[in-house]
Amino acid sequence: MERPTHEYVSRFKKWQDTAVVRTKDHPTLQDFEEGLNFFSKKQSILLNHPRVNSLPEDKIQSLLVLELYNYLEFTVWLELGPVNEVCNLIRLPSFLPWLSQEMKDDALKIYVDEGAHAEMAFSLISKIEEYTKIKSLRLEPNFLKELDDIILSQPKELEKMIKVFFVIISETLITGTLTGLPNDEEVQKAIREFALDHATDEGKHHAYFKQFFEILWPKMPEELQVKIGSVLPKMILAFLYPDTHVLKQILLQFFSEEESSEIINDLISSDIILNGIRKSSFPTKNMLKRNKLFTISKIKDSFNEHKLLKM
Ligand SMILES: [Fe+2]
Ligand SMILES: [Fe+2]
Repeated sequence: MERPTHEYVSRFKKWQDTAVVRTKDHPTLQDFEEGLNFFSKKQSILLNHPRVNSLPEDKIQSLLVLELYNYLEFTVWLELGPVNEVCNLIRLPSFLPWLSQEMKDDALKIYVDEGAHAEMAFSLISKIEEYTKIKSLRLEPNFLKELDDIILSQPKELEKMIKVFFVIISETLITGTLTGLPNDEEVQKAIREFALDHATDEGKHHAYFKQFFEILWPKMPEELQVKIGSVLPKMILAFLYPDTHVLKQILLQFFSEEESSEIINDLISSDIILNGIRKSSFPTKNMLKRNKLFTISKIKDSFNEHKLLKM
């Protein structure tokens, strides 16, 4: 446990010349264009519902703006919250002291990347508010509450490790928004470029946290592996399951309370949601599989209970 590990291959050697914060123009420098959407219709969860999809076009445009805000607000909360808390933790000499110095140094680079992503997302919200006159609902995403619930369900001494794994899961998951948004030519260029730049940095973060997981997991005692492994499905769902509270607040801008609840219920009972979650969690599940997590029956059972194992 004490010996520094040499297994890590850094993807941050050229960080000074490749990180979005150091090389790219700020997304707010680009003007919006008439006739382009603020969010991808293909990525919109709500437009999957026929009643939402048959709203007049101007209302659909407003709904897309609110869905974009939801995505951007989520980014700000996630990256300034658990991700950077954990990056700072990894950086500390006293936390997992056997980690190589290079890994600790790279955690600080990720911290800077995430701070920049959050700032860009935040500034984009302000700029779009000014342009569209539609205000963000500024809702706190539900995943924070889910994380708190997971922490409260386990012994206090596991808190840091739970946060670490929560971040490993979030940084290795691929969301449709990050990959789908840049390719949608009907979306505002400033937003597509922001999503593409973000995805470029996140590719490196993904590689980092995958290696971090592969180095950390075998060093954990089996008892800890079982405890952490069994709550991983909850973490995956905390990120990928649609935030029904936030979505309902968006729907309430266009529908009655009763109609909004019906639409949410229809959406979450459809296959679209679970299929999307299975697809987005595929790389993470592959990583877990390669590290033999599903040979531990309690972990496998937990994934099955949460309907996450069918790939
Ligand atoms: Fe990020
Ligand atoms: Fe990241």
